[in-house]
Amino acid sequence: MQGAQIRLVIVIMVNLIQNLLANYDTSSSLASSSIQLTSRNLRHEQNVYKGSGDMQGPSPGVNLQYQDNKIVLDNGIIQVTISNPEGSVTKIQYNGITNLLEELNDESDRGYWDVVWKGTGVTRKKGNLDRLNCTDFKIIVDTNEQVEVSFTRTWNSSLSGKLPPLNIDKRFIMLRGSSGFYAYAVYERPKDWPGFTLANTRLAFKLNKVWFNYMAMADDRQRKMPLPDDRSSNRSQTLAYPEAVLLTNPIEPEFKGEVDDKYQYAGEAKDIQVHGWICSNPPTGLWQIVPNNEFRSAGPTKQYLTSHVLLSTHYSGEELMAKFEDGEPWKKVLGPLFVYANSMENGSDSHQLWEDAKRQLNVEAKNWPYSFAVSDDFPSSDQRGSVDGSLLVYDRTDDKGHFTIENVRPGNYNLYGWVHGFIGDYRYNGSVSIKAGESIDLGDLVYDHPRNGPILWEIGIPDRSAAEFFVPDPNPKLVNKLYLTHDKYRQYGLWDRYTDLYPDEDLVYTINESNYQKDWFFAQVTRNKSNTYLGTTWQIKFQLNKTDSSGTYYLRLALASATSSELQVRINDRHEKPPLFTTGLIGYDNTIARHGIHGLYWLYNVSIPANKFSKGNNTIFLTQAWGLSPWRGILYDYIRLEVRAAITSTFEFRVMMPADAELEETLIDPSKLSLRHSSGGAFQESKKLKGSGWEWKVA
Ligand SMILES: *[C@@H]1O[C@H](CO)[C@@H](O)[C@H](O)[C@H]1NC(C)=O
Ligand SMILES: *[C@@H]1O[C@H](CO)[C@@H](O)[C@H](O)[C@H]1NC(C)=O
Ligand SMILES: *[C@@H]1O[C@H](CO)[C@@H](O)[C@H](O)[C@H]1NC(C)=O
Ligand SMILES: *[C@@H]1O[C@H](CO)[C@@H](O)[C@H](O)[C@H]1NC(C)=O
Ligand SMILES: *[C@@H]1O[C@H](CO)[C@@H](O)[C@H](O)[C@H]1NC(C)=O
Ligand SMILES: *[C@@H]1O[C@H](CO)[C@@H](O)[C@H](O)[C@H]1NC(C)=O
Ligand SMILES: *[C@@H]1O[C@H](CO)[C@@H](O)[C@H](O)[C@H]1NC(C)=O
Ligand SMILES: *[C@@H]1O[C@H](CO)[C@@H](O)[C@H](O)[C@H]1NC(C)=O
Ligand SMILES: *[C@@H]1O[C@H](CO)[C@@H](O)[C@H](O)[C@H]1NC(C)=O
Ligand SMILES: *[C@@H]1O[C@H](CO)[C@@H](O)[C@H](O)[C@H]1NC(C)=O
Repeated sequence: MQGAQIRLVIVIMVNLIQNLLANYDTSSSLASSSIQLTSRNLRHEQNVYKGSGDMQGPSPGVNLQYQDNKIVLDNGIIQVTISNPEGSVTKIQYNGITNLLEELNDESDRGYWDVVWKGTGVTRKKGNLDRLNCTDFKIIVDTNEQVEVSFTRTWNSSLSGKLPPLNIDKRFIMLRGSSGFYAYAVYERPKDWPGFTLANTRLAFKLNKVWFNYMAMADDRQRKMPLPDDRSSNRSQTLAYPEAVLLTNPIEPEFKGEVDDKYQYAGEAKDIQVHGWICSNPPTGLWQIVPNNEFRSAGPTKQYLTSHVLLSTHYSGEELMAKFEDGEPWKKVLGPLFVYANSMENGSDSHQLWEDAKRQLNVEAKNWPYSFAVSDDFPSSDQRGSVDGSLLVYDRTDDKGHFTIENVRPGNYNLYGWVHGFIGDYRYNGSVSIKAGESIDLGDLVYDHPRNGPILWEIGIPDRSAAEFFVPDPNPKLVNKLYLTHDKYRQYGLWDRYTDLYPDEDLVYTINESNYQKDWFFAQVTRNKSNTYLGTTWQIKFQLNKTDSSGTYYLRLALASATSSELQVRINDRHEKPPLFTTGLIGYDNTIARHGIHGLYWLYNVSIPANKFSKGNNTIFLTQAWGLSPWRGILYDYIRLEVRAAITSTFEFRVMMPADAELEETLIDPSKLSLRHSSGGAFQESKKLKGSGWEWKVA
C-alpha cells in the first residue's frame, strides 16, 4: 500500500461474548468530527415557552395527568399524550401547534415502538409486525423535576405464535425545562422461553403533513419533501419495487419527474445520530436524537433507514438478525433516545433549526449515560468502565490509532477493529473484562494485516466501500435532485446503467492503463438482455515479466457487498471448469436495490499456482454467475495480486564493523545486521530466540 492514502479512520467494535443476560454493543468512531454552532436565536433557550402565562418566570415543574384512556406529560414547554395502557404516543403539542403528529392516522399509528419477528406460528416470509401494545401502566417517578412512566407487557405460553416471546417495558421520561422527552425500552426473555428471531425494531413518529415538509439528516442531505398523497397511484407510477415511485402528478408541481424512495435516505449509525423534520411557519423542528449507539449492533458503519430504525437487517441480511435458541435468555435496553422539539420566532430562517438540533446532539452526547433514567438495567456513568489503547499497523510509523471507549457497561467483551487502508479485521486475542469504575489500558495492539509478499498491482482503496469506483449518472428520467452533485450512488436505477455503458461486452480493466475511478463500475451487476437479467464476467488484464515457477500468487478479493451472488475466479481461461475458486452463493444485504455503497464486508484470499500464469499478457476472469434479478451482484472494496517468492531466494547480509575487525561469526551482533530480501522486502525486526539463534520478521 505504498503511496496509498492513509487516512486514519479506525473503527473499533466491542462485542459481548459471555454475559448472555446483557447483549450490548458499544462502538466509537474516531472519525466523528466536532460540531460547532453559533446560532442561538432559539426560543426555548431564552427560557420563553408556550403553555404558561408567565413568559419570564422559571419553567414550571413536570405535570402528569390522566385523561380518559391516556396520560399527559406536560412541562409547560411541550405536552405529550400517551395511550394507556398501550403506551403509544398519540399527540405532541408544542409551539402553538396542537399536534405535531399525524392526526389523520389512527391513534396507534402516530408514535410507536414495533418489532418484526419470526418464530412459531409466523408464516409471513418477512416476519410478523408487532406494535408492542402494552397491558400495564406504572408511574416510576413523579416529581416536579422529572416524570418517568412505564408501560409493560408480559408474555406467557398462551401467547405463543401471536406475540414474540419477550417481556416489554417501554419508558418515557420528561424533565423540567426540557424541550422534548426521552424514550427507551427494555426487552427481556428469561431462560426456558421458546426461541425466535428478532429482525427489526424501531421507534417511529409520523409527523403531521400539514406542518412538516422539510427533512434534514446531514448538512448536505436535507430537502423539501413531496407529500404522502403524491405516492398514491393516480399521482405516481410505481417503479421496480413498491418503495420506489416516480412522481408524475404531485400536488406541488416542483416534484414532478422525481423519484421518491425511502432507501435514498438511509445512513450509517455514526452519521444519523440526529435527524428530523422542519416546519417553516411557525418555524418548528422535531428531531430524533440518538446520543450514543451502544445498543446498536455491527458497529458505526452499519446502515439504517434513517427515520426510525434501531436494529435492522437493512444492508446486512440474515447475518444480523438476533436469533434466540429455545431456552436462551436475553435482555437489552434500547435507548434512551431524545425526541427534541425546537422553534424560532415567526419569520426566522427555519433552516437554523437543523444547526440547533446538531448542537443539542452534542449536549445529549455529553450527558450520556443519563443519570436520570431509573431502570436498573441502564447503568449510570459510575457503574460503567472504560478501555483505551492504540491499534497500530506494521508499515506505518505514526503513533496515531489511539482509541478510547468510555462508559462501557460491565461485562466481558471481544474487541474488533479495522483500519482504513488495510484489508481484514483485527481481533484482540483474549476477552476484555470491563468492571464498574475501572479503566483498562490495553497499550499498543498491533494489527498484523494479511499479506504474503510484494504487491504486483491493486485496484481501489481498502476501506470497505465502493465509493472510489465509477458511479454513473442516473437515468435523467429517474432522478432525486438531492443527489445530482454528491452521493450519486443514492440515485435510483443505477443497476440498469451498466447495460447502457457496456451494451455488448462486459467490463475489461487493464492494469497500468485503466483508472479505477473511471473504468471500474462500482457494482458488478447483472446485464439486461432483452429483459432477462444475466450474470457477467469482468476481466483484469496485466503483464508479467517472468513467472516464478516455484512461487505462489495470491489474489485478495475484498467485497463491500454481495446479494445472492456467486463470484468465480478463472485464470487465462474464461471457460475453466471448475473455476479455480468460487465463493459459493453469498450475501443477502440487498445493497444494490437500496442504493448503498457498501453492505457487509467479505474478504477472500485465492492462492494461484505460478503455472496458471504465463510470461507476458495474463487475464483474471471474475464471473458473477447468477442472473434473473437486476439487484443481484457484488460491490468490490479492493482487489490486489501478491506474489510470494519460493523459499530458495537469496539473502544479502551487510555487516557494519570497524575496518580492522576480523569477521568472526561469534563476534557479530545479529541485531546490528541490515538484511534485505531478494524480492525487495526489508526485514526490520529481529529478536533473540530462547536458547540460541535469532529470528527476523518481514516488515
Ligand atoms: C394496539 O392498540 C390499539 C389501541 O391503542 C389498537 O387500535 C390496535 O388494534 C392494537 N394492536 C394490536 C396488534 O393489538
Ligand atoms: C397469559 O397472558 C394472557 C394475556 O395477557 C392473560 O390473559 C393470561 O391470564 C396469562 N396467563 C397466565 C397463566 O398468566
Ligand atoms: C387519487 O386517489 C385517491 C385514492 O387513492 C383518491 O382519494 C383521490 O381522490 C384521487 N385523486 C384524484 C385527483 O383522482
Ligand atoms: C406565527 O405563525 C403562526 C402560523 O402562521 C400563527 O398561528 C401564530 O399566531 C404566529 N405567532 C406569532 C407570535 O405571531
Ligand atoms: C493468543 O493467546 C494465547 C494465550 O495467551 C496464546 O497461546 C496464543 O498464541 C495467542 N494467539 C495469537 C494469535 O497471538
Ligand atoms: C491465503 O491462502 C493460502 C492458501 O490458500 C494460505 O497459505 C495463506 O496463509 C492464506 N493467507 C492468509 C493471510 O490467510
Ligand atoms: C431491458 O432491455 C430491453 C431491451 O433489451 C429494454 O427494452 C428494456 O427497457 C430494458 N429494461 C430496463 C429496465 O432498462
Ligand atoms: C506497470 O508499470 C510499472 C512501471 O512502468 C511496471 O514496473 C510494472 O511492471 C507494470 N505492471 C504491470 C502489471 O504491467
Ligand atoms: C518488468 O520489467 C520492467 C523493465 O524490464 C521493469 O522495470 C519492471 O520492474 C519489471 N516488473 C516486474 C514486476 O518484474
Ligand atoms: C498484450 O496486451 C496488450 C494490450 O494490453 C496488447 O497490445 C499486446 O498485443 C498483447 N500481447 C500479446 C502477445 O498478446
